[in-house]
Amino acid sequence: MNIQYSETAGSLGSSAVRDILKVTQGKEIISLAGGLPGEELFPVEAVREAYSRALSGSAAALQYGLTEGYLPLREAVAARMTGQGIACSADEMLLTTGSQQAIDLLCRILLDPGDAVLVEAPTYLAALQVLGSYRAAVHTVASDDDGMLPEHLEEQLRTHRPKLLYAVPTFNNPSGATWSRERREKTVALCRKYGVLILEDNPYGEIAFDETPGAYPPTLAAIDREAGNGPCVVYTGTFSKIVAPALRTGWAVGPQEIIRVMAKAKQAADLHSSAIDQRALHELLLSFDLEGHIRLVSREYYSRMKRLSGELTARGWCDFREPRGGMFLWLKLPGGVETSRLLPLAVEQGVAFVPGEVFYATSPLTSAMRLNYTHTPPAQIPLAVQRLEQALARYEASRQSLQLS
Ligand SMILES: Cc1ncc(COP(=O)(O)O)c(C=O)c1O
Repeated sequence: MNIQYSETAGSLGSSAVRDILKVTQGKEIISLAGGLPGEELFPVEAVREAYSRALSGSAAALQYGLTEGYLPLREAVAARMTGQGIACSADEMLLTTGSQQAIDLLCRILLDPGDAVLVEAPTYLAALQVLGSYRAAVHTVASDDDGMLPEHLEEQLRTHRPKLLYAVPTFNNPSGATWSRERREKTVALCRKYGVLILEDNPYGEIAFDETPGAYPPTLAAIDREAGNGPCVVYTGTFSKIVAPALRTGWAVGPQEIIRVMAKAKQAADLHSSAIDQRALHELLLSFDLEGHIRLVSREYYSRMKRLSGELTARGWCDFREPRGGMFLWLKLPGGVETSRLLPLAVEQGVAFVPGEVFYATSPLTSAMRLNYTHTPPAQIPLAVQRLEQALARYEASRQSLQLS
């Protein structure tokens, strides 16, 4: 049969990088490529008890649920959000199948093919995939370590009249960067000026290494709410990094009207996210010291990041800035090294990473790579860096022999 796939399906094609990374699974390869949390830190016992209580409480845990999500969990998450400066009620919140679905639903209700969207460079790969699937015209805004450059942002807003700006301003995936307060305020003010909705994606914000109160700037959503006159930020968060990704529970907070339309789109997508998972999470929040757990995880990730950073600094062949939280370290290699060509050599040496170019909508930086430090056992990190160095030496040697021949 000759299946005629949609243009959307065509836009979902596999990439060479993904094909290489697929072969790393199950082999003797140390993978710094995935975006996985450390499994040994999952609160397995507390989750087991939470599921048990959710099931023993009521058979309704196994029934269809509300599209918007289990109300007691929405109320609990709204209370946490309010405590983090994003005052909201359960009516302004939708529980989603991970924050990935929040990104998808918002794009689904906003974007027609060709609609302009602004993103950072680099940005989250799977958000680019969502934007591609809705055939958005994606434009990048130049950024530095402090966030989007306001002059370029304004130029892009004026030129492209986007419907949406998508950003990961705290412990960015992949760059690890955290926007300064000033850049956050400017971004919110400019988007308000041009009437552009912001999607603030914040899966890593609570994995913060500095425990000093006030160490980090407020979220875009908090800044936006302080400005009054109705929110222009839809915020998405997730339990994936602070509890476990398999619970597939994220949330979107935003203007009630937008949340209502997202809920309609969610009905068409999956009716609702898993009721039992949501009830178990609610039970977990009632009985488990989540804030203490987040502190523990963040401290452990900080020590793993320092281990990786220390190994890289000692070897001195790359340039990077230590992230202040989150799960990724972004390396830039000098001398025109193309990391997508380095990757097959690295896999042969027994280490994997994600080449930086996949995180760009336009004009990719080809000499960067993303390293994850949260999943690999810390004792393996020195060996991973040694293998990376061996791959780099082979890459340089093959480049020189090409130049000579
Ligand atoms: C920036 C960003 N947004 C969203 C997600 C999706 O997370 P989840 O769907 O597990 O909540 C991820 C996952 O790694 C991410 O890095």
